[in-house]
Amino acid sequence: MKVSLSYIQNNPLFGEKQRNFDQVWDLAQTIKTDVLVLPELFATGYAFTSRNEALEAGETTDGSTVEFLKTLSHLTGAIVVAGWVERDGDAVYNGAIMVDDHGVVAVYRKIHLFNRETLWFDAGNLPFSVHEVQGIKLGMMVCFDWYFPESMRTLALLGADVVAHPSNLVLPHCQTAMRTRCLENRVYAITANRMGSDHNQGEHFAFTGQSQITDVYGVPMAQSPMDETDVQTVVADLGLARNKMLNPHNDLLGSRQTQFYGL
Ligand code: ACM
Repeated sequence: MKVSLSYIQNNPLFGEKQRNFDQVWDLAQTIKTDVLVLPELFATGYAFTSRNEALEAGETTDGSTVEFLKTLSHLTGAIVVAGWVERDGDAVYNGAIMVDDHGVVAVYRKIHLFNRETLWFDAGNLPFSVHEVQGIKLGMMVCFDWYFPESMRTLALLGADVVAHPSNLVLPHCQTAMRTRCLENRVYAITANRMGSDHNQGEHFAFTGQSQITDVYGVPMAQSPMDETDVQTVVADLGLARNKMLNPHNDLLGSRQTQFYGL
């Protein structure tokens, strides 16, 4: 089964949600696709200065971000995955949300928080999960989750064809590492990164852009520049992700020798 996979690389301004919606809306005008991924924290920006600020930016599934994503799904025909701030009572998560034009399909709460995010957000308390939408088995992880190979391995073991990976990358390694993550799990990944920079309390975050769609053999099918907004779409063959036989004798997931992996 062939499907189209897309992302938007945007440049959010901190705290300017409506401007950030408008920028994504403008960039989306030409997209018709099956899966569309937006960056981590695409509407709020990244550089929170306190947990209170994150709590105030947080939304529930009846807030304006989900409403916007439903409209974006309608415009593009896609199932949309985007990074957002999820508020749940006194808890606040750096999350990803999967939305179609009817509403929310699934939420994910970032499990591996990066650096000072640990001061602003609660660590995700939900397991990794895979959701079948229009025949596509779609998993979610957020940015720094890539550093932990268990994230993509778990999604692959749960049957993911495609991993949606909203990101705000500041380290230079992810785009290269995703080649290995995809090769070792035989899944597609859509790493939607932001560009530009954010500041807080003397700290400067420079984001690396270069959003990337990586195929099941670890080859980038699309990659954006470092410092421009961008939109990319590729065609992926889900049959390749579903066949885990490396050769007649090696089943990528079935040949694992878990009895020796220990810890
Ligand atoms: C990151 O996880 N946003 C670096």
